[in-house]
Amino acid sequence: MPQTIISASILNSDLSDLRTTAALVDRSGAQWLHFDVMDGEFVENITFGSSVLGAVKPYSRAFKDVHLMVAHPIRQIKLFAEAGAENITFHVESDCDPKEVIAEIHRLGVKAGISVKPGTPVSAIEPYIADADMILIMTVEPGYGGQGFIHSTLEKIRRVRELAPDKDIEVDGGINPETSRLVREAGANVLVAGTYLFRAQDMSAAVKELLG
Ligand code: DX5
Ligand code: ZN
Repeated sequence: MPQTIISASILNSDLSDLRTTAALVDRSGAQWLHFDVMDGEFVENITFGSSVLGAVKPYSRAFKDVHLMVAHPIRQIKLFAEAGAENITFHVESDCDPKEVIAEIHRLGVKAGISVKPGTPVSAIEPYIADADMILIMTVEPGYGGQGFIHSTLEKIRRVRELAPDKDIEVDGGINPETSRLVREAGANVLVAGTYLFRAQDMSAAVKELLG
C-alpha cells in the first residue's frame, strides 16, 4: 500500500489569513494542502474558486490537492490547472463524462482523482478506476467541515483497495486519530483532515497522531 499522506483541508482554517494557514501546514508535516471547492449547486455551500488557489500557491510548499464539489467539473479543470493544482478530484455524481474529465486533467499534466459520496456505490466508479490516479471515498456528506464520520464507508474503502491495490485512496471528512486508524486499516492512505488539525494546539503533534 502507498505511503500515508495527510492532506490538510483549508475549509475550516482561518480563511481570513490563508498565508498563515499555508505556513502552518508546511511546518506541520502534512504533505498536501486540500482545497474544498463548492459551487452552491452540486452542494448547498459555496466556498472559493481557482483564484484562491493561485493566491495561496506562492506561500505553500505542500502538494496542491483540489477537490471539486461542483456540478460541471469540466468547466473548472483548466482554471485550476493554470492556478497550480497538482491533483484535481471530481465527483462521479456530477454532470460529466468521467472519462472526458480525467482525460482533460491528464492533458494539462495534473493528477486525476474521482470521488463518490457516502451513498454512492463503488460500482459507479469501477469503470474509471484504471484511468484515475486516486479514488476519494467521502466519509461525510460533501458540503461542510466538522461533520461526524460515517462508518458505513469503511466497507467501500476495503472494496476499492481490493480493486486498486497500488493507487492512492483518499478519505475526506471526520478524520481524527480514532477514525484515522479505522480508514488506514481498511486501506486508505491519503487522509484529508480539517477540523482536527486546525483546532489542535500543536498541528505537528496532530499530524503525527493521524499518521499513527
Ligand atoms: C466536506 C469537506 C470536509 C473537509 C474536512 O465537503 O470536504 O470533509 O474537507 O472535514 P473535517 O473538518 O471533518 O476534517
Ligand atoms: Zn474535500
